[in-house]
Amino acid sequence: MALDSSSSNGGNMGATLQSICYERGSLRLLDQRKLPLETVYLDIKDATDGWNAIKDMVVRGAPAIAIAAALSLAVEVSHFDAFSGTTNDAASFLAGKLDYLVSSRPTAVNLSDAATKLKEVISDAVASASKAKSIFQAYMEAAELMLKDDVASNKAIGSYGATFLKLHQKSSKGLSVLTHCNTGSLATAGYGTALGVIRALHMEGALERAYCTETRPFNQGSRLTAFELVHERIPATLIADSAAAALMKEGRVDAVIVGADRVAANGDTANKIGTYSLALCARHHGIPFYVAAPLTSVDLSLSSGQDIVIEERSAKELLNSRGGLGEQVAASGISVWNPAFDVTPANLIAGIITEKGVIAKKGSDAFDVKAFALQLDGKC
Ligand code: MRU
Repeated sequence: MALDSSSSNGGNMGATLQSICYERGSLRLLDQRKLPLETVYLDIKDATDGWNAIKDMVVRGAPAIAIAAALSLAVEVSHFDAFSGTTNDAASFLAGKLDYLVSSRPTAVNLSDAATKLKEVISDAVASASKAKSIFQAYMEAAELMLKDDVASNKAIGSYGATFLKLHQKSSKGLSVLTHCNTGSLATAGYGTALGVIRALHMEGALERAYCTETRPFNQGSRLTAFELVHERIPATLIADSAAAALMKEGRVDAVIVGADRVAANGDTANKIGTYSLALCARHHGIPFYVAAPLTSVDLSLSSGQDIVIEERSAKELLNSRGGLGEQVAASGISVWNPAFDVTPANLIAGIITEKGVIAKKGSDAFDVKAFALQLDGKC
């Protein structure tokens, strides 16, 4: 079992599953393609290894890919003792590698958000440092901070989400919550977002049952979320994606909570393919549908979800079993459409749970995510 409570993901995490094991100069990523049957960590030595690990789904989940990308480059430059260039050379080296890492997967904004923030750190370091080594040092420290911050932010999401859900609970019994894809420890630096809310509800004795979808075609739900739920001893049931509507019709779901890869300024949310149909089913059955995501998943440059780039993945994920990793199951010659994500319109979302509180709608169909974010910055 992939247990690690001693690496630098924020110290006291207890025995939670860890996809990212990092210490200065060394990065190991849990190969999520092999879970739940095998626990194998891959050594990531540089940005190229990081790019391949993200593209090939060794590591996945919006926050985890951003942090893994940043740390892969941190490991690369940690071995640059003999770098002979100027501070500007160091800065352009880092910026070029960050652009390269961002090209690995397009939909999750966390990756480009991390790259933008790291470039700011690099620029500030160039303005004040005289040696290339100091630029690399500043980069490593900033990348390492992202790892720590993500765990803290997930715990805050869990706490805000659990409090909010309990407050809006209609029945006196515990809540039954349906989730999609994997948004837990494996998709983040630790703890998780939507799954973090489920964990917090469970810890507070307020969870009746978690339902997780298989999440075809890559099966993040049956392979990863089910693995985490069993590991955490949370009462949980796996369902086929196509069973969600029937489950809701039977009155067995009190709320749906999913993660996000990119939230537009109006609250439209890109997340794992199938999220949109869950939101439609939830609306039909009068069940609240929530998004849980850190503010690093928010993209204020997009006014709506219309312009979110949706990654299309290999046909093999559908043609072969185990999300493309197993034997052929589909008829040879069939053409395939395999979008990895879809966009759920804001009007189907009841609230967006962040590490700074829950963004609620004020009477309209859309959220004012920008006002929420600016308020936090003290700018309005
Ligand atoms: O293709 P994946 O596995 O990277 O997709 C992951 C999701 O869609 C998650 O719901 C999202 O990234 C949030 S993870 C906290």
